[in-house]
Amino acid sequence: MSIVTTPEVMAPDATELEARVQELLSRMTLGEKIGQLSQVNGPWAHEGIPEDFAEAIRRGWIGSVLNAVDVERVNEMQRIAVEESRLGIPLLIGRDVIHGFRTIFPIPLGQAASWNPELVREGARIAAREAASTGINWTFAPMVDIGRDPRWGRVAECLGEDPLLASRLGAAMVEGFQGDDLRADDAIVACAKHFAGYGASESGKDYAATFIPERELREVHLPPFKAAVDAGCQTMMASFSDLNGIPATANRYLMTTILRDEWGFDGFVVSDWDSVHQLTVHGLTGSDHESAYEAAMAGVDMEMASRCYIEHLEWLVQDGRVPIERVDEMVSNVLRVKLRSGAFESPYRDPALFPVPGNEEHRASAYESAVQSGVLLQNDASSGRPTLPLDLDALDRIAVIGPLADEPGEQLGTWIFDGDASVSTTPLTSLQEVCAGRCEIEVARGLETTRDRSHDGFPQAVEAAERADVALLFVGEDAILSGEAHCRADISLPGAQAALIEAVAATGTPVVLVVQAGRPLAMESVAGFAQAILYMWHPGCMGGPAIVDPLTGARNPSGKLPITLPRVTGQIPIYYAHRRSGRPPTPESFIYIDDIPPHAEQLSVGNTSFHLDVWYRPLFSFGHGMSYTDFRYEGLRLERDSVEIGEPVRVFCDLVNEGDRRGVEVAQLYIHDQVASVTRPVRELKDFQRVELEPGERRTLEFVLPPEAFAFVGRDQRTRIEPGRISLWVGRDSDATLRVELELTGETRA
Ligand code: BGC
Repeated sequence: MSIVTTPEVMAPDATELEARVQELLSRMTLGEKIGQLSQVNGPWAHEGIPEDFAEAIRRGWIGSVLNAVDVERVNEMQRIAVEESRLGIPLLIGRDVIHGFRTIFPIPLGQAASWNPELVREGARIAAREAASTGINWTFAPMVDIGRDPRWGRVAECLGEDPLLASRLGAAMVEGFQGDDLRADDAIVACAKHFAGYGASESGKDYAATFIPERELREVHLPPFKAAVDAGCQTMMASFSDLNGIPATANRYLMTTILRDEWGFDGFVVSDWDSVHQLTVHGLTGSDHESAYEAAMAGVDMEMASRCYIEHLEWLVQDGRVPIERVDEMVSNVLRVKLRSGAFESPYRDPALFPVPGNEEHRASAYESAVQSGVLLQNDASSGRPTLPLDLDALDRIAVIGPLADEPGEQLGTWIFDGDASVSTTPLTSLQEVCAGRCEIEVARGLETTRDRSHDGFPQAVEAAERADVALLFVGEDAILSGEAHCRADISLPGAQAALIEAVAATGTPVVLVVQAGRPLAMESVAGFAQAILYMWHPGCMGGPAIVDPLTGARNPSGKLPITLPRVTGQIPIYYAHRRSGRPPTPESFIYIDDIPPHAEQLSVGNTSFHLDVWYRPLFSFGHGMSYTDFRYEGLRLERDSVEIGEPVRVFCDLVNEGDRRGVEVAQLYIHDQVASVTRPVRELKDFQRVELEPGERRTLEFVLPPEAFAFVGRDQRTRIEPGRISLWVGRDSDATLRVELELTGETRA
């Protein structure tokens, strides 16, 4: 239980807050102002705080420190700032608290598979509480970049391919980090990153350039940032990437026109690590002096790590190139956030007043998050009974094969600075527990790591499979294969894992793949060898029970893909909300040279949009995810078939649990605007609901779509709603077939 406090003083209202900002500003020297705009790195090899560092804080030359996690040192830095500096302005202590602090939750992409904003909010709340106990008061999360290229290593950190899903979950993370009252000691300032378009890096290679047309920027990449701002997110991070020729860190259109003028954002923008300096490397500027100018004038308020502001801003002001009013604006933005954060009233943290990081309650939440992030991709029932869940009492022996069955560190995934692998529970440990006294387990790793190419361990794995009733193969990616600057050109299973799966499958023993990975993997070549596939992403410290409980049926899977799973890497980019093309393929438009789809060699009749060597559909669609029970959708209907533009649209659909166990279904609503002045995606997710039903239970779901659900960016790059026919589907995934037609009437609204 948390006993942390909120400062007694009432939160200042807007006028009071601005008055305090102005009052502070009026007493600051230019040097002190620039200090507030500088963030420096703080992990030191030695004890205590180096004297030159302490002196810099004392003189007001540092506004924020990142990567300081020792509470005594953090408190001491705050003490110097608050008690020994002239103006007593506290520091922001920043850290990448991405998917947990000590208690590691599933990677964000995994959490997104839960489609559960409440759970995601709770995960961020716990991470904030743990981080805050060490004095951290600012996290560089959530990352709300849209991920449509799974080669990109940071897809692990994103909330999927869809703007609506990422908006809802990103907003939930912001709410979780910042809590109900940002001034509470256990709340930390959130930072939506990377503004904007970072996820669109060419060929999925980190830091590469992005080319994003205005419409796509506004319809796909910006909505999650807007949602974060609307949720009260106090800071934004400028992206490293080059957007259409102007790096985001110098992009005034993004950071001033859109963020400030259109959205009314009044927090502050921090650069990414060294990204102000890197403007010279991009070739946008010829010197750090110019980089400081470009970034400051475009809208970067605080510089992370590099020293362009510290070393050049003063001159730029003296030369009259950067008006002092601009500097004052930048400083005001920072001070406003510091004042709102409660740091002035309550700069110190006492860990004894916080729940112990990594406690059982937090681990239970990480477990729940991991269970709900698991996606059951396939579950063969051709033998009369589904492969999963396993009936442990009916099995004599289970073969546990593969490099990820017992890897406490790998299951944590990327960005786990403060995690502790020694407290992870692995799938093998959990299996041993539940199988004790019921069935035997034989372990044969087969491969040392997911990247291992040697077949030396295969014979042992094959023999284990031969002796077993079922083979559980724990495959995927080591943690190091995703994350920042960890991109892959080929996203199939690395190393000899595909060959291992094939060898084990050749024994005839049923194969269950449990995949832990930082991205969607292209698994066409192996999916056919497996009777069941449970996709777990990197599930975090409670990966063991969170994997084993669904395997044994103690829990019923409910995760849904937040991102499309391609068949092969060459299909990328592949996402559900694509444009149709003038020559769309259909199953009927092919001549199959051998076999039947999806493995066919094929030719298209009449030339359609397809690859010669791969079926045009993904392996698993966005939104897909199975359950151990059966859900049926029926009775999709509209309150009115024809609705005036500007009115909400009410949609009803009945959902029935036809199976014999309780389960959770994520009911998804998609639309397609059939004819519009610009072409529209074939489907767009507009709403979803998580619904828990008892066996035999039927529930009528109601969706209310606001008028803006039908808005898009027109030829003039402005938002509009046009009259016309809209197809609307409700169902289990983005391939849902239950459809109704809606007529939007009235005049175009621009
Ligand atoms: C990443 C950011 C991160 C920052 C600080 C950069 O390399 O792009 O997402 O917040 O480092 O660690």
